[in-house]
Amino acid sequence: MHPEAADLNRIIEQANPAVMELLSERGRNIYFPKRGILSQSAEAKGKKINATIGTALEDDGSPLCLSTIASKVSLPPAQIFPYAPSYGDPALRAEWKKLLPVKNPTLAGKPVSLPVVTIALTHGLSMLGYLFADEKTTIIMPDLYWENYDLVFSNAYGASFAQFPTFANGGFNVDGFVAAVKKSASKKKVILLNFPNNPSGYSPTHDEAKKIVTIVNEAAAAGDSIVLILDDAYFGLAFDDTVYPESLFSLTADLHERVLAVKVDGPTKEDYVWGFRVGFVTFGVKGGSDALYGALADKLAGAIRGNVSNAPMISQSLILQSLQSPDYAAQKQEKFNTLKKRCTLVKKVLAEHPEYKDCFEQLPFNSGYFMCIKLRSADSEKVRQRLLTQYSTGVIAFAGIIRVAFSATPTGKIEELFDNIYRACKDVG
Ligand SMILES: Cc1ncc(COP(=O)(O)O)c(C=O)c1O
Repeated sequence: MHPEAADLNRIIEQANPAVMELLSERGRNIYFPKRGILSQSAEAKGKKINATIGTALEDDGSPLCLSTIASKVSLPPAQIFPYAPSYGDPALRAEWKKLLPVKNPTLAGKPVSLPVVTIALTHGLSMLGYLFADEKTTIIMPDLYWENYDLVFSNAYGASFAQFPTFANGGFNVDGFVAAVKKSASKKKVILLNFPNNPSGYSPTHDEAKKIVTIVNEAAAAGDSIVLILDDAYFGLAFDDTVYPESLFSLTADLHERVLAVKVDGPTKEDYVWGFRVGFVTFGVKGGSDALYGALADKLAGAIRGNVSNAPMISQSLILQSLQSPDYAAQKQEKFNTLKKRCTLVKKVLAEHPEYKDCFEQLPFNSGYFMCIKLRSADSEKVRQRLLTQYSTGVIAFAGIIRVAFSATPTGKIEELFDNIYRACKDVG
């Protein structure tokens, strides 16, 4: 083991032995190389001649760049072209952290880590796989999940999934969740929850959120060590007053010494910048110290450095500018209203067409970008094909379920969309 990895492990072990138990072999071995090129570059910063860094500079010290690119972006070249640190732009990390309790008031005063920047949420999830998952890991999660988890956790790190039915009695399947947690024999548990959920568009109610947290707390109290990964990709898009409007991170960041809550979030869906590729990973654990959070950030940044080096500077700079703009909140509200209006219209259309129940039932939805319908008898793939060929309509088919992205459907076409699905179901029987 590299001495820098051993140093980090010592810090983590001293601060919280349960967190040490949670790390995979890869997670134990990773470190951020502070004593190599990076530290020599840092020491040379501000010197009269600095011949350390692997970028190119003009004779006046500004980034050497092509005006075919620079002329298209109004940011100064220094905010576009250089590398960002592997941990992310410090100003952006600080701003994102500052906003966490604004968006999640219950988080106020709870010590959490400084977020580390990743190349959007997929990469954040993958890096958590790096730190915490291996062939021995079983990840507990609902059976309606973002299919890319297969590649991120199973293909890449060999983890398997223990799934429970997402819904029961018209809401989140709290009993199924508790049963899955109890069934898992391992003392080390990885739990992955994604709300608002892709594909269902469901977020827990206040009561369900409390129950989920209680289940996690009871498992920890009984001796389990838990990494609770919260995929908050669609955070903030709660369209219904029954929904617990904060991230579950608010309720779990200081839940128990043996619960390491990890918030994975970012502007991808929250701020509608899908192709920018910026995300954040934030840790929270009861009694979490700066030393512990620093060591975890070092490990995460080390994994990032060895994987993609760092996230794009131009995207981080643009996002920071947006977060600090006086118009940000109002513009965000406007886009929220657009999506909420569509979600409300979907509910209205379904309520106005009881005949649809002959062919499909809606699954619970109240948030995010999507909703799902469960087909009564028709084959979902056949319905999807029929929709494409006969009705010029695209949807996503899973086993027995169709996912509808109302986020991407013009408001004026929502009624037609469901009419088409109904007809296609009738056509294929
Ligand atoms: C649940 C969920 N998590 C994560 C992601 C990935 O987000 P990003 O584009 O930021 O990598 C998606 C994207 O569809 C998603 O639906």
